[in-house]
Amino acid sequence: MSFMKPTITLSLLSLLLIQTHAIIFTIQNKCPYTLWPASIPGGGRRLDSGQTWTIGLPNGPHLAKIWARTNCTFDASGRGSCLTGDCNGQLDCKTHGAPPHTVAEYGLNSFNHKDYYDISVMEGFNVPMEFRPNTNGCTRPIRCAADIVGQCPAALRVPGGCQNPCTVFKTTQYCCHSGACRPTDFSRFFKIRCLDVFTYPEDDPTSTFECPPGTSYSVVFCP
Ligand SMILES: *[C@@H]1O[C@H](CO)[C@@H](O)[C@H](O)[C@H]1NC(C)=O
Repeated sequence: MSFMKPTITLSLLSLLLIQTHAIIFTIQNKCPYTLWPASIPGGGRRLDSGQTWTIGLPNGPHLAKIWARTNCTFDASGRGSCLTGDCNGQLDCKTHGAPPHTVAEYGLNSFNHKDYYDISVMEGFNVPMEFRPNTNGCTRPIRCAADIVGQCPAALRVPGGCQNPCTVFKTTQYCCHSGACRPTDFSRFFKIRCLDVFTYPEDDPTSTFECPPGTSYSVVFCP
């Protein structure tokens, strides 16, 4: 039975490799202007038009968010501020961003050993985004690239973005603080323009997508 030994060693080795393999996130700025994308975990940096930022993250289980900041100024020590998406004035983000910001959210290797991914406008919209898996035969892109800022209802409009009604009005109707809730005229404004994204807290059925664990992803700003 000595022929069994190399086989066992090899499968243990490949198991170890799978478990420690980094998940690659490719973040591309296709906007005609500079962005300061952020990732929690992962940090944040300046990304000029046409540039790509590649992050390797451990294969979960963890929940994370990627978003873009706009109109930022930072000093040499990485302290400053942004018009949208600001993370406590830090270039290298350690905390989540301020709304409005379009957010790519994912749970890697989480519930039922699957990846879950979505785009949320639950904290408003600042930059058009595509979020798509690249590997594992998982190919379903999510896209929110309509002119949300330009068409934003007056009550939700702020410099550089369009707020979510929950952020502005903080009422149960918009935030679903208790019990079941329904779409509103404001949530429909987003949904009509971005069919696959989270527009209100109970929007899961049309807005959450799955991949096998170990999948790598791309986030493209201004796809
Ligand atoms: C933000 O930056 C964009 C692109 O550089 C620019 O067109 C816009 O005027 C800026 N907005 C503000 C409020 O500074």
